[in-house]
Amino acid sequence: MENKLVAVELNESAHQYEIKIGHDLLDQSGIWAKKCLSANTKKIVIVSNAKIFRLYGAIVQNSLEKSGFDVSIWLMKDGEKHKNLRSAETLLKFLSTNQITRTDAVVGLGGGVVGDLAGFAAAVFQRGIAFLQIPTTFLAMIDSSVGGKTAVNTEFGKNLIGSFHQPNGVLIDVSVLQTLEKREITAGFCEAVKQGAIADQRLFDQTAEFLKSYPVKNFKKFHSQPDFIKDLCSLIAAQVSFKAQIVQGDEKENSARSDGKSRKILNFGHTLAHALEKVTEYKYFKHGEAVGYGIIFAAELSKRLDIFDNNELNLLCDVVHRAGELPSTKSINLEQVFAAFKHDKKTVGQSLQWILLESIGKPKIVTDRDISNSTVQQTLEKVLHS
Ligand code: NAD
Ligand code: GLY
Repeated sequence: MENKLVAVELNESAHQYEIKIGHDLLDQSGIWAKKCLSANTKKIVIVSNAKIFRLYGAIVQNSLEKSGFDVSIWLMKDGEKHKNLRSAETLLKFLSTNQITRTDAVVGLGGGVVGDLAGFAAAVFQRGIAFLQIPTTFLAMIDSSVGGKTAVNTEFGKNLIGSFHQPNGVLIDVSVLQTLEKREITAGFCEAVKQGAIADQRLFDQTAEFLKSYPVKNFKKFHSQPDFIKDLCSLIAAQVSFKAQIVQGDEKENSARSDGKSRKILNFGHTLAHALEKVTEYKYFKHGEAVGYGIIFAAELSKRLDIFDNNELNLLCDVVHRAGELPSTKSINLEQVFAAFKHDKKTVGQSLQWILLESIGKPKIVTDRDISNSTVQQTLEKVLHS
């Protein structure tokens, strides 16, 4: 099967890179990295965690070394709670101790947590060094590895300290998804449904059809089927093409923009998601699972504001549920969720910007001044407690 290539060309930062998608690609990491990096790059630091490195580290490291790179490894602790300044500081010290220079590079081998932390360190180390992404979760493949957002969390919320730092390349090897837990697959597909919902009917249908043909509960079994691999690579290519197109038009998420092509639309479903993650101290939900609820909430709110059709709402909810079972929200305190909204980083001035839907493929940004508190509260009650 031929690999797929998606180009990302950014006018704002005058930077471009390629996303390579295929099967069994990790043993080509070295040749790929050589193509993506400058001829002066001598040293590469692989950033990962112990679990992922045990599975895929050696193959990537050997391939990079075979291509002549001097490779060192830095492993973070696993989990969202370690995507913080303390981990970033330890990594930055490691880069200094290993005498990494401005022409050297960091490779993030892992999910969104590893990618965001590795990218953040690469963005600030000596004011920015090259960075490659090898995403190993479905969520990271279709979303976090593409577009250059890097960040760490603080006690005040998620991704509050960060930088835009575009990678020099992204290598997506779908064979690594065989070892991913089912809940993580579900979480990733929630982000895929999110992108389909805001993109257009075509990406939405492709995502929905994929989930119908290959139910998440049997995901691992399908990996031996060539058609599955082909359809999976096509879906990922379509997903990242959409994300790339939005990022190309609004690389740094211009806060003054509120049109349907603003990068802000990628945050569809994220206002509730971030609040749910915060009130459960990042321990209960996978990020994408929280996005699953966020999608349903934003769509339900859109319907209550009479801008979104009930049939489309039902269809969208159905496709979110196709992504897999989400953890129960019956015991979530709604007042805490409501209070958490005001910390959301999409707040512009004093008002919160909700990403809503007018139809599939037609997102609309609405400030909370135009939505009553009681509508938000009733929608929360319906989506989380009924
Ligand atoms: P994650 O990085 O925590 O990975 C999920 C779990 O899967 C971890 O335990 C990890 O060790 C494990 N894992 C990873 N790959 C594996 C594999 N192939 N086999 C077995 N286990 C594997 O979670 P995630 O969902 O990938 O990422 C979530 C993070 O991404 C959040 O911090 C979120 O804020 C961030 N994010 C960033 C962006 C962005 O644009 N930068 C976009 C979306 C999400
Ligand atoms: N995941 C949102 C963005 O990349 O902008």
